[in-house]
Amino acid sequence: MAEQAQAAEQQQPNMTELMADLMAEARGTTCLKPYEISAELRPKIDALALWDNVAELRDHGYTVVHDVAPPEMFDELREAIHRLAQESEGDLKGLAASMLLGRHPVVDAVATLPKILAVAEASVGQGMRASQFVASIKREGGAGLDVHADQNWLPAPFPAHNCVITFCMPCEGMTDAGGATRIVPGSQALRRPPTPEELEHAKTIPVEVEKGAVAVWDGSVWHGAGPRTIPGTRTVLHATYQRLYTQPIDDYTYLLQDETYVQNASKELLGLLGADLFYGTATATSGGVDMVKFLKSAILAKK
Ligand SMILES: [Fe+2]
Repeated sequence: MAEQAQAAEQQQPNMTELMADLMAEARGTTCLKPYEISAELRPKIDALALWDNVAELRDHGYTVVHDVAPPEMFDELREAIHRLAQESEGDLKGLAASMLLGRHPVVDAVATLPKILAVAEASVGQGMRASQFVASIKREGGAGLDVHADQNWLPAPFPAHNCVITFCMPCEGMTDAGGATRIVPGSQALRRPPTPEELEHAKTIPVEVEKGAVAVWDGSVWHGAGPRTIPGTRTVLHATYQRLYTQPIDDYTYLLQDETYVQNASKELLGLLGADLFYGTATATSGGVDMVKFLKSAILAKK
């Protein structure tokens, strides 16, 4: 791609100021280390008091972010999940709902909450993509989940820069007896999935969160979930974000073809859908990719 950038520069003596600025910025941008915070993100982490969360993610592979949204927003999210789960077919009808971005305004609003975006960017970088937005409803007697690492479709050792971050948003809060996520703290440092034996004997701890808070973990940390042994429901939105160069799980690119949706979407949401990136921008007659988007992507990828 550097050759294409150079060629574009040579072929366009009247190159726009924007291209010239982007090229200069791309040349001068060095890559941040894992969990190093960019100058752009620093004031947000300060203002939202998220430094402890960033440190916990880096050192333990998970954290709990408090006061992400008012309780009423989680009530609305719960209602939306239960309604959308009725639209699922087969065994998971009433128990799960998938492809949730663009299907209810509250899901899109939750996806771009300031604390969520700031923590996600600290972990998977600028230009991150919305990956999977899926919900689950666990009732009394609901089973637990085996220990695994979320980015287990990447070859190990996993990249030093985390590629996948998952926000577990329990609409009612989450307790051990209620079927909470269970984590092996520090296991992210191994940067590989557990072996079958490790999976069997993993020493996990429950991650309990109050309503309005979310549990967050990186793509390398080993985690599962406990069974639910009490009445009621655990209604969770699992919102996953990925580093820009990795392929998202859900394909939301169809939303970018919907003019009304795009007109009403925030720039943060459009960014999560990949609108700012250069992937897929070449056409049969364009002679190459969108160079402005390519240069922007090259800059975002380093931060
Ligand atoms: Fe998981």
